Amino acid sequence: MQPVPKPGRASSASLPVYDRASLLYGSRRDDVLTLAEIEQYGFDSFADAAYVGIYGMPPREWYRRGIRLLGRTAVECTRDALANRIGLDVASIAACIRSTRMLVIDPFAGSCNTLFWILRHLPNAEGLAFESDPQVFELTRRNLASLGQRIELVHGHYVTLLEQYRILEDRGIVAFVAPPWGVALDEVHGLDFRRTTPPIADVIQHIASQFAKHEILFAIQIYEKVNALSLAQLRKELDWTDVRVYDINEEGRNHGILLGTKRWSPRASNTAAV
Ligand SMILES: C[S@@+](CC[C@H](N)C(=O)[O-])C[C@H]1O[C@@H](n2cnc3c(N)ncnc32)[C@H](O)[C@@H]1O
Repeated sequence: MQPVPKPGRASSASLPVYDRASLLYGSRRDDVLTLAEIEQYGFDSFADAAYVGIYGMPPREWYRRGIRLLGRTAVECTRDALANRIGLDVASIAACIRSTRMLVIDPFAGSCNTLFWILRHLPNAEGLAFESDPQVFELTRRNLASLGQRIELVHGHYVTLLEQYRILEDRGIVAFVAPPWGVALDEVHGLDFRRTTPPIADVIQHIASQFAKHEILFAIQIYEKVNALSLAQLRKELDWTDVRVYDINEEGRNHGILLGTKRWSPRASNTAAV
């Protein structure tokens, strides 16, 4: 097998710098990226050409299998290293929900990679995802189909779509919440949960009122540095919370999750089990 050359500035001087800002807000935002661009983004931003690992594969492999991402989704997706850790932690807390039948909802699907990993760790659960951007929806629909992944992916706005679903009350619900961060992420002041689009508290309230009789576990994607007041406000929306930040060597730029429950607590479940 031939060693795969690592892309770098010297070998691809013709490409501009690929970083979060250029892909989220630049001319490649809504374009399908080439493999060279995906690897260049990983190299330029994280010194790792294989950074955008998704669906359990490095870029070279998923690209060869026909998986494609837009510029914006390459930045917005939760890559394997992180999505796997999220999936493990979500599954360990979801195991305390009394219901044995679980539905995992991602109202902001993007690549669907986190849902993919949560379902890997919760193999008997079903997956439901919403995506409002028609291009992202279509690419993710094709990507999931080529993987043979059974996730119900629906095109539209999460609020409108949520209203259309009636879920039996005996089902436990897991909701993974990662709307676009946009201006909510400030490297100096941290992530402000009130400034995501939409604000995280709105999403929690919508889901909690739509499924008013269910036990719900929320997993909210967070950044290592967060705005403390916005975190405190978010915690008030939930009955039990726990913050996990994953040290996967991103030098102060680590991500994590805020786990939170509505209408149940894993502490109470543990006590009952003793
Ligand atoms: C940060 S990405 C999600 C990451 C993804 N969950 C993952 O695991 O990789 C956010 C996605 O939510 C979509 N989105 C934004 N607002 C939405 C809304 N109101 N309803 C549904 N999807 C929305 C965006 O188009 C984008 O693709």
